[in-house]
Amino acid sequence: MADFAKNTSAIFTNSLVGGIILIMQDLEKLKSELRALNAEYAKIKDIPPAERAEFGRQMNERKTAILEQIKAAEEAALESEVEPLDITAPTAPNQKMPEFISSENGSAHPLMTELDRVIEIYQMMGFDVVEPRQLDDEFHMFDSLNFSKGHPARDGYDTFRTEEGFIPPAHTSTMQHRVLKEYKKNLDEGKDIAVVVPGRVFRNEDVDATHEHTFYQCEGVYVSKDCTMGNMLGILREFFEKYYEQDLDISTQPGYFPFTEPSLEFKIEKPKALGGKKGEFIEMLGCGMIHPNVLKMAGIDPTVYHGFAWGGGIDRLVMLRYGLKDVRYFESGKLNFLKEF
Ligand code: DAH
Repeated sequence: MADFAKNTSAIFTNSLVGGIILIMQDLEKLKSELRALNAEYAKIKDIPPAERAEFGRQMNERKTAILEQIKAAEEAALESEVEPLDITAPTAPNQKMPEFISSENGSAHPLMTELDRVIEIYQMMGFDVVEPRQLDDEFHMFDSLNFSKGHPARDGYDTFRTEEGFIPPAHTSTMQHRVLKEYKKNLDEGKDIAVVVPGRVFRNEDVDATHEHTFYQCEGVYVSKDCTMGNMLGILREFFEKYYEQDLDISTQPGYFPFTEPSLEFKIEKPKALGGKKGEFIEMLGCGMIHPNVLKMAGIDPTVYHGFAWGGGIDRLVMLRYGLKDVRYFESGKLNFLKEF
């Protein structure tokens, strides 16, 4: 049996179940025939000398035939189709198996489905979509956005940093400078810049029901010769009304961001589906007219062109649509939560 195990171990590891079992039974039978034949060789000493040659010839013939069959069976075992191993099958009778997560078909994460809706609405409004990076640098996170060196507002972003000094973006505004530079050609051709940048952002802050270290934002950038703050508020209102599929009142209050002047905090009426009452507003994003320095750094003349930009959380948007109370569900991987979508 030790011999058998040695010769067939390769076969066992290459093919696990199914038809292979039959081939293994054949192999075992052939190998026991071979052992019996080898034992018969010992009889040669009892055979009259004249008949020994013929005995030997017959024995060799039988042995060759068995060896050929063994070889064929081994090749068949290697080539036989490998069936998937059933890891839930008990390995001993009456063995109770632990419950495994069933392998149902997966589905898109709710945030990704909603992000698709967001993108679709902006695309219908004529915006291009640009993807951000998940690792950026100090220049795009701060300098290109008019944060002067040592500006206290830099601390407000709770940025993570790698040992090499790279920054996982804490807001999608990191893409403003790239978008302005890349799309400047639109202005040269007499067209506007209209781009949104949906993406993942990271902040080193305490996690609770309304704060996550990893979340999604969508940035918007618009530049033309004659755009106004009124245009911006119109676009934003249109977006939120499409997303929540209802008319919405909006409201603003002054804000502060180094990259916009003036800057605003933008609010919408709390959606009716969530029991929102007339006059109840929720802050959705930051926005404003792009600071002349930001345009200048991207090679756009602020005396000729004006722009506005905005950026807001996607998680928040989705939570409000479905009445979700805890942002942590999104990154949790909890199947019970994911299955509800
Ligand atoms: N990046 C800002 C934040 O995450 C939000 C923001 C404010 C984006 C004003 C903008 C803007 O584009 O103009 O807090």
